[in-house]
Amino acid sequence: MSLYITTPIYYVNAQPHLGHAYTTIVADTYSRFRRLCKEDVRFQTGTDEHGDKIAEAAAAAGIPPKEYADRISRLFQEAWPLLNIEPDTFIRTTDAHHVKTVQEILQKVHDKGDIYLGSYSGLYCRGCERFLTDKELVDGHCPDHQALPQPISESNYFFRMSKYQEWLIDHIEKNPDFITPERYKNEVLSFLSEPLEDLCISRPKSRLDWGIPLPFDAGFVTYVWFDALINYLSGIGYPDGEEFNHYWSVAEHIIAKDILKPHAIYWPTMLRALGLAPYKRLHVHGYWNINEAKMSKSIGNVVRPETLRQDFGVDTLRYFLLREMSFGLDASFSDETIIARQNSDLANDLGNLFSRSLTMINKFAKGTVPAPADLEPQDRALAEAATSMVAAYSAHMKSFAFHRALQEVWSVISLANKYIVTSEPWVLAKEPAKTHRLNTVLYHLAETLRLIGLVLLPVMPETSMKMAAALGITPEVFRKHNLIDHGIWGLTEPGVKIQLGASLFPRLDKKNGQNRSPQKQKVQAVSGESIKAESDIGLISFDDFRKLDLRVAEITAAEKIDKSDRLLKLTVMAPEERTVVAGIAEYYEPEELVGRQVIMVANLKPAKLMGVTSHGMILAARDEKGRLTLSSLAAGAMPGSKVS
Ligand code: MSP
Repeated sequence: MSLYITTPIYYVNAQPHLGHAYTTIVADTYSRFRRLCKEDVRFQTGTDEHGDKIAEAAAAAGIPPKEYADRISRLFQEAWPLLNIEPDTFIRTTDAHHVKTVQEILQKVHDKGDIYLGSYSGLYCRGCERFLTDKELVDGHCPDHQALPQPISESNYFFRMSKYQEWLIDHIEKNPDFITPERYKNEVLSFLSEPLEDLCISRPKSRLDWGIPLPFDAGFVTYVWFDALINYLSGIGYPDGEEFNHYWSVAEHIIAKDILKPHAIYWPTMLRALGLAPYKRLHVHGYWNINEAKMSKSIGNVVRPETLRQDFGVDTLRYFLLREMSFGLDASFSDETIIARQNSDLANDLGNLFSRSLTMINKFAKGTVPAPADLEPQDRALAEAATSMVAAYSAHMKSFAFHRALQEVWSVISLANKYIVTSEPWVLAKEPAKTHRLNTVLYHLAETLRLIGLVLLPVMPETSMKMAAALGITPEVFRKHNLIDHGIWGLTEPGVKIQLGASLFPRLDKKNGQNRSPQKQKVQAVSGESIKAESDIGLISFDDFRKLDLRVAEITAAEKIDKSDRLLKLTVMAPEERTVVAGIAEYYEPEELVGRQVIMVANLKPAKLMGVTSHGMILAARDEKGRLTLSSLAAGAMPGSKVS
């Protein structure tokens, strides 16, 4: 199967923002997903550069419209690679081949008798670039632009859209997947239950000259929507290009609800007039609001994808957008929600599963994935869950339910984390008789991670690559993997060498908003003092107590210290990263500590213990027999929070 997927072509009167990024990330993710299903995909995006809005913005900037369009179009072209978005074509409506195609199509429809000269009086909204019907007005104003439309009376060319109304209703009803989600199909059908008017497709040059001249009347330019929609054809070489023959029948468009009418009504009727089949599917999503408010220049809350990338990283941004919005409905963006997703879903669930599993393979199996032995029910359950996840994930991805697809992946991540806790590999590792069992557990973790890495490729390409590399799959090999041949259990070859690397996701704190990176705390140079673990403590004053800086510390790595039975070297986030040496090796295995939150004395003078400098002390309880239990928090807290 093949796929031709498109985004709207964005107006060049505004710089790329979160809304544009979302649609384009969806298109990229969907392209990568269908490629992962071994399909042949063509992905197109671009910029819409003619019309009133652009002419006005250029005039305000004091430069000619083409120069202005070049400048803003470049910002879109440069934005997408930074988000790992890889379109096959970036089309501009000022491209000569597009202009030529629009003129050929106009001529064809005109010759057929579906374009005629008429006169029009009506209320014109400059923001919408179209005449509004009385019904659309709210208190006489355009509801989208809150502006009073202007009364205009003029001669213009019209497209006989009304002629195709019955055909369109019939097509929508017979093809339930033509417009999805269903609410948008219903919206279109409800609109079509009233008589459709013909579409005004020209603007007199006296009023606007920044547009494509009508081939049959030099006094007019083409209405921007009639010009823009044609990008979906000109981009693939209509009327006789090889790509056009190959891809038109598999065209799917992605848009937000703001431009439903042009895509669901103007466009299919234009195609019908041209004698072409309509596109295959229209996928319509809702709006991103910012902290519950509409994103707008006037409110000053426009979010730039570049800032988000710098603050949170590309993969976190892509994951967040796809996980947080249910396609079709509105969603709300805030720094707090993206930070919460990163800390819980990415750093905690996925990141910990990944780092614990690899650390254990490294330590207990000398860095190679061991061969599994006899299976126990919980091994079978994990393998079964991971395999059926691939199928459920694919079904949701196919129907644009990205958040559901990701929920499926995360339920396997959580199962695998529980599998570690219940199978206690660190206990198995202590008993030579249990090596077979240990090997089976480690194999199951590696294979589950491979499948998770594979399905995450469309959403988080960089993370997926990192996971594959850690599991010993080289980029050249991984690039050839697909869901059909590789989305099955048992392909990890025992004996493959893993590669320990950095953790997948750092934890973030609140400072990660508005392009503020976490401050790295300076750690002072050390003297040779040692930590006095216990001391004679009598009554202390509140002022003495206040001198203690107690903080929530999250353990991100733990390892034994050479030649010491008692000491572990911990890496903690509090929220900055630091090393702490703790005398808990007799009671805790390093692997079970990663991901735990403990309480740390953060303002102790650094001290060197067995050659490792410690920058803090972890609190623990010691019972009468001298056994230690680490401090913990009843619920997760932000690393670095003050304990008082
Ligand atoms: N130029 C037309 C489209 C012509 S397509 C033949 C246009 N351009 S636009 O720059 O206004 O882009 C609108 C599109 O940007 C939406 O349909 C959607 O894809 C995206 N978004 C813009 N703001 C958005 C949100 N706040 N939320 C989600 N997507 C949004 O219309």
